[in-house]
Amino acid sequence: MLQDQFQRKHDYLRISLTDSCNFRCSYCMPEEDIQSMPNAHLMQPDEIEAIAKKFVELGVKKIRLTGGEPLVRKEFTDIIHSLSKLPVELTMTSNGVLVDKHLEALKAAGIRKVNISLDTLNRGTFHKLTKRDQFEKVWENLNLLLENNFRVKINVVALNGIIEKELLSFVQLTKDLPLHVRFIEFMPFAGNLWNKDKVLTATKMLEMVKEEFNVSKLKDDPNDTAKAFQAAGHLGTFAFITTMSEHFCGTCNRMRITADGKMKNCLFGKEETDILGALREGKDIEPLIRLSVWNKHAALGGQFSQDYTKAEADKIENRSMIKIGG
Ligand code: GTP
Ligand code: 5AD
Ligand code: SF4
Repeated sequence: MLQDQFQRKHDYLRISLTDSCNFRCSYCMPEEDIQSMPNAHLMQPDEIEAIAKKFVELGVKKIRLTGGEPLVRKEFTDIIHSLSKLPVELTMTSNGVLVDKHLEALKAAGIRKVNISLDTLNRGTFHKLTKRDQFEKVWENLNLLLENNFRVKINVVALNGIIEKELLSFVQLTKDLPLHVRFIEFMPFAGNLWNKDKVLTATKMLEMVKEEFNVSKLKDDPNDTAKAFQAAGHLGTFAFITTMSEHFCGTCNRMRITADGKMKNCLFGKEETDILGALREGKDIEPLIRLSVWNKHAALGGQFSQDYTKAEADKIENRSMIKIGG
């Protein structure tokens, strides 16, 4: 069992498979970060397997594969094949555009839940945000996942100025489709030009939804990142990830391994532990993992509060989102 100083139990590991992506969303991938890591710096499939196995031995119950975009990793099929043998729930967060090409592999590896990043239902806005004209493909693949009985969540980064036009359409989508849409408050990472004026809080979004829909609160699981709701008569649900306005660090059970094998005990922490380096030197990685968890901050969510300035934003001592994996 991996426990920190605040008695939080950590049983959820997010493994980033690559820092490459076939989209170019600026909130995630700033222009200065377009260069991806050389292959020799990446965890290789056998190293991913060894690291994951150790975490599972230490009590991890759920592994989420992230990126960049996990499906662009050349050895994706081999990686999920080996991870599927571990006694752990395997999940993935993806931009969806390559899902059809990997559908059979996902099924074969027992992946039943996929989170798809999709910030708009408008083709033109999609092109503007991602710099790729792939809305139809993502939409098709999302439906493909539903047809194949995957549990699908949509991650919508709530960008002020864009989300206002999208919010109600996304909630409307949950009427006939068993989708779980989550609106995520825009978070600051290196180079993503965050400022507080771009954040639309969950409270404001909920008010807007309530003007159109009759909404009830659903019960959340103890370690959920999201606060869930449902509109009356709808098949699906919607939720808010409130990192900026009401952080959920008190119930955090998450650890991260970056594509280059560095362990991050918090999404916002600058501290990193070189697990891959230790593994390559033949060292025991268990004490390093335990120490990283133990040293986790009580809370770093929402740290960029109301008076956050552009100067402070430029000083973020953390990776860009694409090099963390969300
Ligand atoms: P589920 O397991 O389906 O609940 O997904 P998840 O929310 O754990 O993962 P996902 O990759 O879908 O992430 C959705 C959003 O939540 C992204 O913007 C993540 O950055 C954010 N998120 C995930 N984990 C954390 C966390 O530990 N802290 C904070 N602040 N945000 C997180
Ligand atoms: N703020 C909030 N969410 C973000 N994501 C990427 N960048 C940000 C950001 N700056 C989301 C993506 C993806 C998930 C892993 O993180 O939309 O779904
Ligand atoms: Fe966990 Fe850090 Fe996210 Fe808080 S900000 S929920 S401690 S990962």
